[in-house]
Amino acid sequence: MDRIKNRIEKLKDEINHHRYIYHVQDRIEIADSVFDALKNELEKLEKENPEFITSDSPTQRIAEKPLDKFEKIIHSKPMMSIFDAFDFKDMIEWETRISKIKNQKSTGLNEKIDYFCELKLDGLAISLKYSNGILEQAATRGDGKTGENVTSNVRTFDSIPLKLRIPQKKELEDIGFTKKQIEQIIYTVENGEIELRGEIIMTKKVFEELNKKYKAEGKSVLANPRNGAAGTIRQLNPRIAAERKLDYYVYSLITNFEFKKHEDEFKLLKLFGFKVLKYNKFCNNINEVEIMHKYWDKKRDKLPFECDGLVVKVNNLALWNVLGSIGKGPRFMMAYKFTAEQVTTRVKNVTWQVGRTGVLTPIAVLEPVKVGGVMVSHSTLHNMDEINRLDVRLGDTVVVERAGDVIPKIIQVILNLRNGQEKKIKEPKKCPVCESAVEKVLGEVAYRCTNNNCYATNLRKLSHWTSKNAIDIEGLGPKVVEQLVNEGFINDISDFYLLKINDLLPLERFAEKSAQNLVDALMNKKVIQLERFIYGLGIRHVGEETAMLISNRIMNYELGIKNELLIPEFLKMIQEYTIEKFEEIDDIGGIVAKSIYDWFRDERNLEILRKLDKNGVKLIINNNKPQSTNSFFANKSFVLTGSLIELTRSNAKAKIKELGGKVSSLVSKKIDYVIVGEKPGSKFEKAKNLGIKILSEEKFIKHITHNT
Ligand code: IVH
Repeated sequence: MDRIKNRIEKLKDEINHHRYIYHVQDRIEIADSVFDALKNELEKLEKENPEFITSDSPTQRIAEKPLDKFEKIIHSKPMMSIFDAFDFKDMIEWETRISKIKNQKSTGLNEKIDYFCELKLDGLAISLKYSNGILEQAATRGDGKTGENVTSNVRTFDSIPLKLRIPQKKELEDIGFTKKQIEQIIYTVENGEIELRGEIIMTKKVFEELNKKYKAEGKSVLANPRNGAAGTIRQLNPRIAAERKLDYYVYSLITNFEFKKHEDEFKLLKLFGFKVLKYNKFCNNINEVEIMHKYWDKKRDKLPFECDGLVVKVNNLALWNVLGSIGKGPRFMMAYKFTAEQVTTRVKNVTWQVGRTGVLTPIAVLEPVKVGGVMVSHSTLHNMDEINRLDVRLGDTVVVERAGDVIPKIIQVILNLRNGQEKKIKEPKKCPVCESAVEKVLGEVAYRCTNNNCYATNLRKLSHWTSKNAIDIEGLGPKVVEQLVNEGFINDISDFYLLKINDLLPLERFAEKSAQNLVDALMNKKVIQLERFIYGLGIRHVGEETAMLISNRIMNYELGIKNELLIPEFLKMIQEYTIEKFEEIDDIGGIVAKSIYDWFRDERNLEILRKLDKNGVKLIINNNKPQSTNSFFANKSFVLTGSLIELTRSNAKAKIKELGGKVSSLVSKKIDYVIVGEKPGSKFEKAKNLGIKILSEEKFIKHITHNT
């Protein structure tokens, strides 16, 4: 008989050990099938020898009979609430308040306050009592003083130990507990009472699986994971509770072990066999708390469970007694809530976005607002039907929603807040990009630009601006540009400088790092070399060389030694140029001159320049490196033709300019050398006819490297 009892005890210990490492340490040591085999053997032995069944046996999680009702339980200590903070200002005020109390009460606690921060799980508070190490009672919060006995349901959750694990001495020593503490802990686990509290939750995964199943069975679905958890706990039939695998994370130890820090309580609770959130973290000061809050505010949808904020607790337990409680909750902790997933803001404007097929999509420009952890300043309105359905008007106060990775949207207008100044949103009369006429798409609600080229042209213009030889923004190639246009973030080149990391994050292809890199790349290139700027504007007939000619002219004639230039200053200078004056620049002919002249008089272009200026773009004249005057290249003119093997075209040009030479695109008598690469074009023929000296790539490179 003793042999069987012994075997049963050993099996229970082994099963409990595997439960502990699976739930608490996130590890497995044996296959599921082996675990099942252990459980089967235990079940069989217990069936044959029922006198050896104990209530803490892993086979005894499910009670046989449903309850009639839940018994009431008076809590040993009230289960209170927590005060809420909604922004960093609230947190600073809280810290100021508690610091003051700490100092006034002459506590002898002189050190600064540090914190332990936990994710605030959105489930149900459950208090657990263990007697001699065995789970005796599980109670809901109820009204805080009296709760309900839900032990029979709570027992069914594998995440809760039926028997406390007895920590090994060594484990406790490693954490730094004193000898006396270790003795007290082990004695209490084995022979005393231990009470602790935590949150019962339903993970998003379990919630989704259950709803899928209920739907298939034609049953009503759970509204959200929190309701799922609450409904489960209040099940009178533990069999139903058991099928809804709930999780339990512990957050406070009620039994007093005279620890110094709250974080030590977690270390012990883990050794007892409880799941502790791995995200919980010590924070040295309130600024570190803020960093953690910012991080999870944005990332909460990546968590496997619902979470509505941080619980920030003073780490020093001596201070808990000093600070005490007022009203509904303790002073030594604060629930620092995440930003809501639905907020209100105002509609400032509506712009129309030209899509791939020419369809115009209305985009609401919003008063920037934080929603679901990210700043939002735009939201699509889809089409005129949606505008009419919402009855949204300019100036309206609206409800904006952003949940998870979803793109923010306006879900409602708060009609009662109207003051009569709101303006109806009108159908577009002409295309915002090319000003062509618009037409209503037959049988649809959409409006479309009648110019087939409009969307494509705009995309090309935008990608031209970011391309290598213009502003050179890494990570902003045509595909990404198109995505940004389609999402409504970009209309013209000035909009690039308004992009925020949070605008990019919901988009395909973007993660935290790539979004950050792109925004950084834009910021780092806000000061633009004048020739790149002129080239980037995409003026007809103005390629790199012409852009360089204009820039050189401005540099040499207009600026003197100044090397930074604001866009309005540049505009003023360039607007003083007549067509004839442009033609005075070597290599600029009549057609090119007129094109430049017209571009800087087109109101649409001027508006873009004004916006670029407003968004912080500045110009720089690249005269940092004094141009060489004694090199082979100094004061000579060059034309390049054919493809170079060792250098890219733009590097070759840059090198010539750096060494004091000029680069032109036209072969004329004024040219000193034509540099000829592979498969040269007609320029080579022309050079030979005019008797201009020819340089092979090899010789050209020799001149560069020897600078002679
Ligand atoms: S400590 C005085 N820590 O939030 C109450 N509560 O809004 C002490 N909650 O009823 C609770 N995560 O159910 C604490 N890490 C955490 C928590 C947490 C979630 C819940 C708890 C409490 C409610 C208060």
